[in-house]
Amino acid sequence: MIVYGGDWNPEQWSEETWAEDVALMREAGVNRVSVGIFSWAFLEPEEGRFDFGLLDKVMDLLHANGVQACLATPTAAPPPWFGHTYPEALPVDADGRRLYHGSRQGFCPSSPIYKERALRIAEQVARRYRDHPALAMWHIHNEYGCHNARCHCDASAAAFRVWLRGRYGTLDALNDAWGTAFWSQRYSDWEQILPPRATPTFTNPGQQLDFRRFSSDALLDLFRAERDLLAGITPGVPATTNLMAGMHWEMDYWSFAPEVDPVATDHYLIGEDPHIHLAFSADFARSLSGGRPWLLMEHSTSGVNWQGYNRAKRPGEMLRNSVQHLARGADAIMFFQWRASRAGAEKWHSGMVPHTGTDTKIWREVTALGALLKDLAEVEGSTVTADAAVLLDYASVWAEDHPAQPTADHDPVEVIRQWYGALWKAGVTCDVAHPEGDLSAYKLLVVPALYLISDRGAANIERFAAAGGTVLVGPYSGIVDEHDRVRLGGYPGAFRDLLGVTVEEFFPLAAGESVTLAGGGAGTVWSELARATTAKVLDVHTSGEPAWTRNAWGDGTAHYLTTLPDGDLLGRVVAEVCADAGVGTTSHPGVELVRRAHPDGRSYLFAINHTEAGATVPATGVTLPGGLPVDGALTVPAGEVRVVREAPPA
Ligand code: GAL
Repeated sequence: MIVYGGDWNPEQWSEETWAEDVALMREAGVNRVSVGIFSWAFLEPEEGRFDFGLLDKVMDLLHANGVQACLATPTAAPPPWFGHTYPEALPVDADGRRLYHGSRQGFCPSSPIYKERALRIAEQVARRYRDHPALAMWHIHNEYGCHNARCHCDASAAAFRVWLRGRYGTLDALNDAWGTAFWSQRYSDWEQILPPRATPTFTNPGQQLDFRRFSSDALLDLFRAERDLLAGITPGVPATTNLMAGMHWEMDYWSFAPEVDPVATDHYLIGEDPHIHLAFSADFARSLSGGRPWLLMEHSTSGVNWQGYNRAKRPGEMLRNSVQHLARGADAIMFFQWRASRAGAEKWHSGMVPHTGTDTKIWREVTALGALLKDLAEVEGSTVTADAAVLLDYASVWAEDHPAQPTADHDPVEVIRQWYGALWKAGVTCDVAHPEGDLSAYKLLVVPALYLISDRGAANIERFAAAGGTVLVGPYSGIVDEHDRVRLGGYPGAFRDLLGVTVEEFFPLAAGESVTLAGGGAGTVWSELARATTAKVLDVHTSGEPAWTRNAWGDGTAHYLTTLPDGDLLGRVVAEVCADAGVGTTSHPGVELVRRAHPDGRSYLFAINHTEAGATVPATGVTLPGGLPVDGALTVPAGEVRVVREAPPA
């Protein structure tokens, strides 16, 4: 069964509406909903007084209608009494402003009283519903750190110091790692150390990086505490939390991933190429899941309410988006939210049941999607195999977030997206991998932006190339160690030997400035005074400087770009590195082709046409649903999707 549904927030509606809701769920083929996410104020209306009247009815109603509950612990939204009674537990920003209650995630992740109260309500919910037949899965909290990832209060300062003692042991080691010899920042007592609060000018880069690491860990600790509590009460019930893979950069999801089972993520369309953004998020979720199927816990049926301009989805777009996630390994397609709210901060966010009722484009598409997912049930459990991986590390993104850089225009997340996008356009299905992870399954590694890399990570990438892999590295990668200290002796320190290039000096390009390459295409944002030591120069700037190099390394190859390529150049480079790596490319512009397969060899080709013209792609098998034979060529009408159950290998 492919899971289908969304967040159901019945506390916003009357019981008559609930009855209509469950009838509509059945009509749409919804088989699971997330409930209780924002119910704390109903479940514990006053501190210590619990009331399960509402949730009891909701759980029973779901069960009676054959809909499973992904039951939430309501800890993402403490009620007003919490902030009112414990103002010291509200989050504090870097300027020392305490944030009031009246929104959500109004708590400091290091607050002992928050943790106590959160675990108490989670325990109450778990004990109440441990044997309820509707309970299928735990939805712990909601999007950890979405709004309160970093708290700068005194409780956070104390917890940060404990974390730092664990990491460094001695103050000398901390002073050395943070380079506190600079600007007279040397600490002589642990108590002097603060979170990076507002300061006259730049804070210490090591301090800000470690504070990001600590803040991510503080939220992970909260997750673990809830998960362990639930595991004690309902052993065997899977417990997850919804990550925001590729959307949100505050938590280190590489550390969350092994702790959640299954991996679940949320995605919302954003940017100029939203379907590429979506594909990246889906591939990232699959990679966090170690290749296993994952759950799309939230996306939207149409527009959201939190962007400056909220584009509504065109007819067919929601179905295309859903099938994209499915193609890239999702076994659940869920939405925020079931019924669009009448009041509250998200009343202009689309839902599965729109304000305007069921005689609508959205509702017709919701029921059509439900029917399609039922027809695709046999896809459940199949997996996606990728020959290429894009490397990504949060610590590197966080370190580069310090404002004192050669240029503010080198945005690692943007660069990663662009390079991933070039692979997407070449039809290359890729994973996202951590530089210290197991890279042995890949033929090609793409390193768009890894400013910070540990010695272990660098050695791992070298080993990958030595064993015959192909690596493509972007500029301003391999520059600093894990404490954000420059690797000396010629940039890019960690990759200098692998790339066979040494760089003397960076020449960031001003806005509007670019370098042209002799072989075609251009670079922006970045250039550098580079010299090939052992590498072969594949292309030069018009000034004669190396722009693109290739170095032999063991049985493999390492390419380097000294600038940020435009689309033409990046397309050229991707074609070349894929050829070097033996990774196949396709050329069906705007048509996404992804394959899922079962271990027994049954496989499914997903063809998603994002263009406004029909396309024909190679495929053999039978259409699913429909069972129509496909004999070498599959036509996918404009804006539509097709799934082919492929002929078993001869
Ligand atoms: C998510 C969140 C939902 C809802 C949604 C709106 O970040 O988990 O509760 O706010 O965004 O797009």
